[in-house]
Amino acid sequence: MTDLEKIVSPLLQWYDQNKRDLAWRKEVNPYKTWVSEIMLQQTRVEQVKGYYDRFLKKLPTIYDLAKVDRDNLLKIWEGLGYYQRVCNMQKMAQIVVSKYEGKIPDTYEEIIKLPGIGDYTAGAILSIAYQKKIPCVDGNVLRVITRLTLDYSDIAKEETKVKIKDELTSILPDRVGDFNQALMELGALVCLPNKPPLCTICPLKELCLAHLQKKTDQLPVKTSKLSKRKEKYTVFILHYQDQILLQKRTDQGLLAALYELPNITGHLSLKEAKAYLKAQGYHVHSIQKGNKLKHIFSHLEWDLISYSVQVLEPFPGLWVTEEERKTTYPLPTAFNRLLKGEDQNEK
Ligand code: ADE
Repeated sequence: MTDLEKIVSPLLQWYDQNKRDLAWRKEVNPYKTWVSEIMLQQTRVEQVKGYYDRFLKKLPTIYDLAKVDRDNLLKIWEGLGYYQRVCNMQKMAQIVVSKYEGKIPDTYEEIIKLPGIGDYTAGAILSIAYQKKIPCVDGNVLRVITRLTLDYSDIAKEETKVKIKDELTSILPDRVGDFNQALMELGALVCLPNKPPLCTICPLKELCLAHLQKKTDQLPVKTSKLSKRKEKYTVFILHYQDQILLQKRTDQGLLAALYELPNITGHLSLKEAKAYLKAQGYHVHSIQKGNKLKHIFSHLEWDLISYSVQVLEPFPGLWVTEEERKTTYPLPTAFNRLLKGEDQNEK
């Protein structure tokens, strides 16, 4: 038995006794595994729970997902971020329905070609839903394995992921779906990121080189990301009677196909804002400085200021009531935060 192989049995035993009670672990099928794994990719488990239940209630099968209208789909995803994920899911659903009779493929070669499926998701679906002996390596797994094996390779590098995938491939047990999830679960609950790991309760502590040599704080090694790009916008909350004005974002790029509040690059003073609105053709009745906030994406930071504006007549456009906005129009979280009155103005 290799050293790494020794983790299999205690890890599975620990998982059986300590795994979280999560909806997608109750009744496993490829559709549910796929939905949960896509949601979990850039989002914390706590946040995913509610979205997952709602998604499956509204779209219980891959056929429902394939045909749902785009605005409804984005509305279900509203607030989860990385909206391209769900657009790709719909594209994949349409392909699976038309080409595979609604059954998500069960081979790596076929599934990896589908929109939105990368190496991690392919491994997760194939191992969890189809019991195929394929590893799935996310940030949790990279942290656990580099600590166990005292591996100082940079986990941001593709070659490190490939090496760890190879190491894991050679030890995968029959209960491969549980094993893959157990590694991720250990990373989420015990071998913590950004905090000291809970080695005293770890089922692998006697096998973990980083723990034995008191080096857990040195691992994993990860080269720092580039600093975030910063963008400034002035956002207009235009009111006419009980309605506000929305507009649709473009079909490409960040937050594609969602709706938004009208906005312009840069921070405009009150005077500039008035002049801008006038030039756009709005008949402004009154204008006030609104909230100000920063919204952070993985690679980008938005620095938003806003103006709340009453107009005398509605300029042609998408004027919606609060009720319509809440039920029908998917809005990026940054705009919802502004509308909810969140404010980071210095007091
Ligand atoms: N993170 C992403 N998918 C997971 C899973 N299936 N179990 C535990 N953590 C996860």
